[in-house]
Amino acid sequence: TANGAKAGKTRNIIEKLDESGKNCIIFYGSQTGTAEDYASRLAKEGKSRFGLETMVADLEDYDYDNLDAIPNDKVVMFVLATYGEGEPTDNAVDFYEFITGDSPSFSEGNEPALGNLNFVAFGLGNNTYEHYNSMVRNVTKALENLGAHRIGEAGEGDDGAGTMEEDFLAWKDPMWTALQEKMGLEEREAVYEPIFGIVDREGLTKDSPEVYLGEPNKMHLDGVPKGPFNAHNPYIAPISKSYELFNVKDRNCLHMEIDVSASNLTYQTGDHIAIWPTNPGEEVDRFMNVLGLSNKRHNVISVKALEPTAKVPFPTPTTYDAIVRYHMEICSPVSRQFLATLAAFAPDEEAKAEMAKLGGDKDYFHSKVNVHHLNIARVLQTVGKGKEWSNVPFSALIEGVTKLQPRYYSISSSSLEQPKVISITAVVESQHLPGREDPFRGVTTNYLLALKEKQHGEPNPSPFGLSYEITGPRNRYDGIHVPVHVRHSNFKLPSDPTKPVIMVGPGTGVAPFRGFIRERKKQVENGETVGKTILFFGCRKRSEDFIYDKEWKEAKKVLGEKFEIVTAFSRDGPKKVYVQHRLKERAQEVNELLEKKAYFYVCGDAANMAREVNTVLGQILAEQRGISDAKAEEVVKNMRAANQYQEDVWS
Ligand code: 2AM
Repeated sequence: TANGAKAGKTRNIIEKLDESGKNCIIFYGSQTGTAEDYASRLAKEGKSRFGLETMVADLEDYDYDNLDAIPNDKVVMFVLATYGEGEPTDNAVDFYEFITGDSPSFSEGNEPALGNLNFVAFGLGNNTYEHYNSMVRNVTKALENLGAHRIGEAGEGDDGAGTMEEDFLAWKDPMWTALQEKMGLEEREAVYEPIFGIVDREGLTKDSPEVYLGEPNKMHLDGVPKGPFNAHNPYIAPISKSYELFNVKDRNCLHMEIDVSASNLTYQTGDHIAIWPTNPGEEVDRFMNVLGLSNKRHNVISVKALEPTAKVPFPTPTTYDAIVRYHMEICSPVSRQFLATLAAFAPDEEAKAEMAKLGGDKDYFHSKVNVHHLNIARVLQTVGKGKEWSNVPFSALIEGVTKLQPRYYSISSSSLEQPKVISITAVVESQHLPGREDPFRGVTTNYLLALKEKQHGEPNPSPFGLSYEITGPRNRYDGIHVPVHVRHSNFKLPSDPTKPVIMVGPGTGVAPFRGFIRERKKQVENGETVGKTILFFGCRKRSEDFIYDKEWKEAKKVLGEKFEIVTAFSRDGPKKVYVQHRLKERAQEVNELLEKKAYFYVCGDAANMAREVNTVLGQILAEQRGISDAKAEEVVKNMRAANQYQEDVWS
């Protein structure tokens, strides 16, 4: 799809640079949008501070065999996220394979191949994963081996430690200094130049048929959505069933079944489904009010790129309301750099000084904004003391607020049993933070909760919920729908069903294992033989959040002694019992199964649980096999390398 998606545009980066007169290209490898966001921030800063002619580029939009033809008065930046187990992001797979391949072949045949290439690199990673920032590390090494010149250090941001933003800010200043020296750039007084022009479309209203109100593209607008459905083109899927899994009042866990039978979407047990959220009405209103957009929120506008290489991140004509509601990440915590940018547009001197301080002082920002997870509108409300920030150009918001991203969930159904129904299992996120009256709420899970409530005829918003536009743009869809696409994963049952499996999945980490267990149940019903299937499940209390309890009993009826569930209830007894404690109690059996080549799976919280399970498994092997801790650790490592140990974890 890389080639097909944007047919007609050049894939030749040299041509692109020549026709647009750019001297700095910023490639991004992005999965969740953060790397893309950092790339555009570098582009803006390079332009406004140093007069660089910058452009941002998706790695999958270009060919790489002429990287050697980029002249040495230009610079190429790489902003590269590492995904999962050290993998490239989907849009960077081809580039990664090319550049780290045995002998990439380039257009000019220079020696060394990339002797003319100047590059800058920043990586986004998570130190709770074993292959921390392997993308930026491996790409930097490969480029240097090919003779390219690195400018500044290759930066590494750590999401695991929660320091990504600060790592980025700390990295970029020395990088700019090094780049200034290399390219002879003069720093100038930063001036804001809009990248996008806003055109009022007075002849149109929000009810005109050509006006986008959240539709992702023209096919959707015309009411004839067509596959392939993917990250550029979601399928608006009916929700066939939804229900609550917890037995408590103050927490929600949703089971939702998404019907993809009318689409050509397919999935395999263990894959992920992307859900495209909508922002809650309360936060859309807050944003509109504080930015002085309320009185024109339903006005129709077109947005035009004023730069040949800039892309408008949503289809137009559309309304301010639709842009903010469906395309901007307005609920996530605001970045320090964006506050610094907005200082110039403050409603008064006091607010301007405060914004500059928040933007410039890391510790101050941390204590005032970061610990409370404040989004942009909340900060503007507080700093402006209720004044409207109507001087902020709308272009600055399109540029500075991240594009609303789909969220990925582990599929909890079995494709063998239900090839056209995809289920998810999601806890509705709501976090009480100091210094805030209302909780910090997850955008997507609260949206899903609202969909469930609507499906059951409950009031919207419910007493604890947020209000969402639910039936979608122009109520085009009857019933309850959600935009989705599927992403393939490597988290898979062994292809030989007789192999034993050990699954560790506390909380909603059980999601893919529900799929695995239902798959094996179906296999037995089909007359196949399956191997031992053990699930280690943990939750707070048997009576409250022991999800799918009834289903495990059904599975037991069919699978008999082949299936076992081992539970760890952390808040039923006097002391905490976790899955890893249960694992240890079963050390002998776990070891025997592994010797019979059992597959070992972990799903759920990356930061603590998955790491502790990994450690405990090492301890079990050391003790059972009488080997040293170091040796046991190596065995676990090898199991991972051989895919005998698989993780599907999140932070
Ligand atoms: P707790 O919240 O009572 O501490 C699902 O969230 C289950 O995982 C809960 O029972 C939770 O227990 C437990 N849990 C919390 N931290 C964990 C960890 N580090 N390892 C394993 N389980 C953990």
